[in-house]
Amino acid sequence: HHLEAGDFLAEKGPYPHFMLKEIHEQPGVAARVLGSWTARGDGTVTCDAAGLGWARVPRLTIAACGTACLAGQVGKIWLERIARLPVEIEIASEFRYREPPLPEGGVTLVISQSGETADTLAALRYAKEAGQRTLGLVNVPTSTIAREVDVALATHAGPEIGVASTKAFTAQLLCLLGFTVMVARQRGTLDEADERRWIGALSSVPRLIAETLAAEPAIAAAAAGALAPASDAIFVGRGLMYPLALEGALKLKEITYIHAEGHAAGELKHGPIALVDATVPVVALAPSDGLFDKLDSNIREIMARDGRVLLLTDAAGAARLGEAAWRTIVLPDCEPFLQPFVQAVAIQLLAYHCALARGTDIDQPRNLAKSVTVE
Ligand code: G6P
Repeated sequence: HHLEAGDFLAEKGPYPHFMLKEIHEQPGVAARVLGSWTARGDGTVTCDAAGLGWARVPRLTIAACGTACLAGQVGKIWLERIARLPVEIEIASEFRYREPPLPEGGVTLVISQSGETADTLAALRYAKEAGQRTLGLVNVPTSTIAREVDVALATHAGPEIGVASTKAFTAQLLCLLGFTVMVARQRGTLDEADERRWIGALSSVPRLIAETLAAEPAIAAAAAGALAPASDAIFVGRGLMYPLALEGALKLKEITYIHAEGHAAGELKHGPIALVDATVPVVALAPSDGLFDKLDSNIREIMARDGRVLLLTDAAGAARLGEAAWRTIVLPDCEPFLQPFVQAVAIQLLAYHCALARGTDIDQPRNLAKSVTVE
């Protein structure tokens, strides 16, 4: 039985849509995820996948679809940078038909909100047959994927009804960061004091998300005034913000039907910049991190071609680029590794308010299903 939005009407509370309710649930979801990853309460990470011996794992393969796959792309960057673990990320529908070789002693992680996505399940079965140990990051604990993996890690987002994933995505991100800290400890790239510092940083995520939600009026105004009238939009970012740019474009097309593309900002000049003119808004995910100087020059290239840049940045970024940008939204300051949480919530609100202005069916967008159980 597939749950329809109507089955839960009574639970929308004061919110007009499940998507908005689920966006606003994220500080609480993050707190719940943290509670489970720090259950010992001694400043260290607790993880059911700790027994897999991460110091000797040659490579982690991640396979997933849609938004879950984009969470995996963020996870790959954290795992490579913080834990120095080689990670491959795969679109589940491409993975097994390519019949890729998988390394001896390797681990495959599948990520799925529903735990029922046919392509993700098929990727999991391929990995098992290839002798990989398997992990699942799954939101529905009774799902097929949760049952078939060697170790299931719960996402703890609670039931997600809106077809466009929101709170499950941020919960997946937070789990992946907790997982990264555990792996990094085993691989010796973090020591015990580092682990405690990381737990401290992670515990600021619920507050960071709440502070981002406070920017909703500014985001709503930019969405309705600047983005909703457009028929095309481009999202750009670098580093951790590249998968977030892809997710921003995905959210926008899913619920507003505006044609949207996400690009690594450095790739713009290799093609996509040909699309830029005064009618195509460019949403720049631009926290003032170590890549800001590079992004700054990419943004100025866009502006030199009459591009209208909607800047999602922090106070320091706004001070540098706000004057030149078409619209600027100031988001909370936070350390670079935590920026995906801030930007994820910002792009969700941007898509939501754009859809609201366009009058589309936000919780049940045309042609889409919450859980895709056919290949
Ligand atoms: C569908 C949903 C997406 C979701 C994807 C993967 O396409 O509309 O929001 O990201 O499936 O779903 P899963 O349940 O495996 O995370």
